[in-house]
Amino acid sequence: MSKKVGGLAGISAGETKISSAGGAHNLRYRGYSIYDLCEHACFEEVAYLLVYGTLPTQSDLNAYQKKLKSLRDLPQALKDVLEKIPADTHPMDVLRTATSFLGNIEPENTDAATHSVDRLIAAFPAMLCYWWHFKETGKRTQCVTDAEGTAEHFLTLLHGQKPSDTHRKMMDISLILYAEHEFNASTFTARVITATMSDLHSAVCGAIGALRGPLHGGANEMAMELIEKFKTPAEATVGVQEMLQNKDLIMGFGHRVYTEADPRNRVIKKCSKQLAEEQGNLNLYEISEAIENVMWNEKKLFPNLDFYSASAYHFMGIPTGMFTPIFVMSRITGWAAHILEQRGNNKLIRPAADYTGPEDLEYLPIEKRQVQAS
Ligand SMILES: CC(C)(COP(=O)(O)OP(=O)(O)OC[C@H]1O[C@@H](n2cnc3c(N)ncnc32)[C@H](O)[C@@H]1OP(=O)(O)O)[C@@H](O)C(=O)NCCC(=O)NCCS
Repeated sequence: MSKKVGGLAGISAGETKISSAGGAHNLRYRGYSIYDLCEHACFEEVAYLLVYGTLPTQSDLNAYQKKLKSLRDLPQALKDVLEKIPADTHPMDVLRTATSFLGNIEPENTDAATHSVDRLIAAFPAMLCYWWHFKETGKRTQCVTDAEGTAEHFLTLLHGQKPSDTHRKMMDISLILYAEHEFNASTFTARVITATMSDLHSAVCGAIGALRGPLHGGANEMAMELIEKFKTPAEATVGVQEMLQNKDLIMGFGHRVYTEADPRNRVIKKCSKQLAEEQGNLNLYEISEAIENVMWNEKKLFPNLDFYSASAYHFMGIPTGMFTPIFVMSRITGWAAHILEQRGNNKLIRPAADYTGPEDLEYLPIEKRQVQAS
């Protein structure tokens, strides 16, 4: 019998040149440290690096940003679909539906797959915000802005005005941090779908579905719900201690790959603090820190990227239901890089399983089967 490992923990499922996640202080995209990228690059530079394989020159970047800007608007047929989606739908389901529909009206041209990738990167902010404003106000809002980058474009569509420089910068950093993370569940899903020689939109729809769950991307929304339960740091300390006693999962903590710290946390935590200071109210940030302290003292568990992303987004006035969709706006770049890498050296991904069910059962005709007592 083969060695069994729950959830494939620690099992290598293939090779990649796209990122390496190792140790508390090391996450690299195509060899570049996330710390350097967050400090010096913008999200579009990182998107280009992931999707096209190298850092762009200034003229490459200018052309890339211009191209993305030109792809932001949504076709009327997609706006019509967005208007029909019920108001109580989760925004992740909206993005999944919109991605699928875009794949119907603008199917992937496999000879120019990166064009379809760029289209998705450019269109996600409008997909989300057009639906959001329509269901909130019944109004049909704009899908294009003159913003250079995705961060400013998204915040402008959401709030109807240009963001402050701090908000634009913090959103840009957050998009860089969320862009890529090796063989995480949604990326692996995208690779499995791709390996069957399916299309880009199917792989991205599957990835969105995997990301939606609270053990993966959905954790940032659950973390916000947790933080908002408490009025003070002291209340949070007691509350989380009780939750741990009840064996509850505390969302935004722990990680499958990292054992001591998530290297992205120190960057996003700093952003969250700066945003809290800027708005002159540190209470929510201090509640978050109180939760972090309990988790470390009681369980030696550390915050992952999702935990302080939650308060950072909250401080930027972003509704909680949009937190995981922002992850999609960013991670589309990593998914795309993996989809293209998978296609470059494809092999069907189809693991084996150890059968543990009954053997040699006698087939009974339906009229002879007994009703099982429940
Ligand atoms: C990320 C995660 C799914 C990794 O899971 P994993 O590698 O399978 O680790 P396990 O679930 O086996 O956790 C090991 C132990 O730590 C505990 N643990 C892990 N994360 C925990 C958390 N966030 N809150 C409370 N306990 C946690 C588990 O209950 C388990 O305890 P046990 O050994 O007493 O049963 C897990 O840490 C988790 O559920 N975190 C919360 C969701 C989250 O933040 N997801 C985003 C990930 S980036």
